[in-house]
Amino acid sequence: MLRPWNLLLKKRVNIDLDGPRYLQIAHGLIHEIERGRLLPGEYLPSSRDLAETLKVNRKTIVTAYEELIAQGWLASVGTRGTRVSTSLPEGDATNAPHLSAKSTGVSAETEYPFLPAPDRLLAIPAGKWRKLDEGVADGRLFPADLLARAYRKAAEGASRANALHYRDPRGSPRLRQEIASMLRRQRGLMVGAENICITRGSQMGVFLTARILIRPGDAVLVERLTYEPAVAAFRACGAKIVTVGLDEDGVDVADVERACRKHRVRAIFVTPHHQFPTTVSMRPERRLRLLELARQFAFAIIEDDYDHEFHFGAQPLLPMASYAPARVIYAGSMSKLLVPALRIGYIAAAPKVVDALAYQISLIDGMGNTVTEEAAAELLESGEVRRHVRKTAQIYARRRDAFARNLDSEMHRLIDYRLPDGGLAFWLQFKDMAALDRLEQRAPEIGLSFASSQSYAAEEGTERGLRIGFASLTEEEAKEVLQALRRCAEP
Ligand SMILES: Cc1ncc(COP(=O)(O)O)c(C=O)c1O
Repeated sequence: MLRPWNLLLKKRVNIDLDGPRYLQIAHGLIHEIERGRLLPGEYLPSSRDLAETLKVNRKTIVTAYEELIAQGWLASVGTRGTRVSTSLPEGDATNAPHLSAKSTGVSAETEYPFLPAPDRLLAIPAGKWRKLDEGVADGRLFPADLLARAYRKAAEGASRANALHYRDPRGSPRLRQEIASMLRRQRGLMVGAENICITRGSQMGVFLTARILIRPGDAVLVERLTYEPAVAAFRACGAKIVTVGLDEDGVDVADVERACRKHRVRAIFVTPHHQFPTTVSMRPERRLRLLELARQFAFAIIEDDYDHEFHFGAQPLLPMASYAPARVIYAGSMSKLLVPALRIGYIAAAPKVVDALAYQISLIDGMGNTVTEEAAAELLESGEVRRHVRKTAQIYARRRDAFARNLDSEMHRLIDYRLPDGGLAFWLQFKDMAALDRLEQRAPEIGLSFASSQSYAAEEGTERGLRIGFASLTEEEAKEVLQALRRCAEP
């Protein structure tokens, strides 16, 4: 007669799954032992009987039994057969789910609590047709052969120097040196390698900064329209998010002062160069007032300068970190200079802050990725990065203008926008929210994906808009995309 677990085992062993069948049977048996449905000392059916029940070759059962005997789950009792090892503790049959078909199929459910991913993920899955980004460089323009050569040189160099083992969590000394020199020469930051900590993307830099600044309940200020992944990182570290106002001159500093009087503010997250998502630059008087408030209330300014290198009008303002290094933690990224897939970002800050960040890195992955960092250093040192940026900046300037023309011809009835002086995206404000709703509802039906208009709002009730990157689209692609967006938005 078939024992209940015998039947259950039959259900558990899904012969359609990949992997050796004997292992699936072994796992099924372990599961039954853990659940207490097969008790210590209990005999198993003969390999022939079980093979017949499960419709598998007898040898498969013999191999599964042998494996479990070797692991100590089962014991062979000579000619009497095979039984569950008597040295195992009894499983908890009382806690086992009822022996119903529903509870015993192969289940993806866990039996322990954990923090699940939110319903709306931060990374946008690619659409079947086209994924619109929020302003990334065109990866197709990046010469892959340059990258391959840099990797080869980096790997060979690091191997020769016996540098392919564990090392300083602050990152490759050469890359830190190169980045410090770039920041000194091009952005006016008075930094050396000791001020630089390399991270896997600036997102990691922001997360680690949150880790070292925030104690549960501390407040972090963000503008009412802002960069969702940063907000999510602050929340994940226990911060209370407090939103402050924003207009065409940047953050509302009076609001910042009010928030500081009301909350224990540890930090403010800002993107002064090109505000994310609206693209406006923070005016100098706002910057100075913000620095004053940071000194008065002893909070850190996290300055995310994510797309510094692309500006199409006048010379950009210097980063706040260049004139207030003791109050600013500066987050930078190579995602736009090179490509996001390299995952190279950095924090520029006081050496003690860099040490604190590096300690966090040693908790996460021990250190960074030596070969990738050396390859990036190679590209910076050889001048290839500058050449690439100079070349692509011209292409992006043309694409920006063409995008604006297409916006004028395709979407002028639907949206308002201002031409961005820099950065790689437009901020589209809809005249009628119903049009935006239609657009967001219909776009996925034609395989078009982009960040939700809600993703920029730090709190409910904030106005919505779309941030659409222009740099990664050729002029023809941009036209096609904007025509599609218009069709989706029209009644
Ligand atoms: C506001 C902002 N910060 C940072 C980044 C860069 O992130 P990462 O260096 O992690 O690729 C982006 C990328 O688009 C961004 O929009």
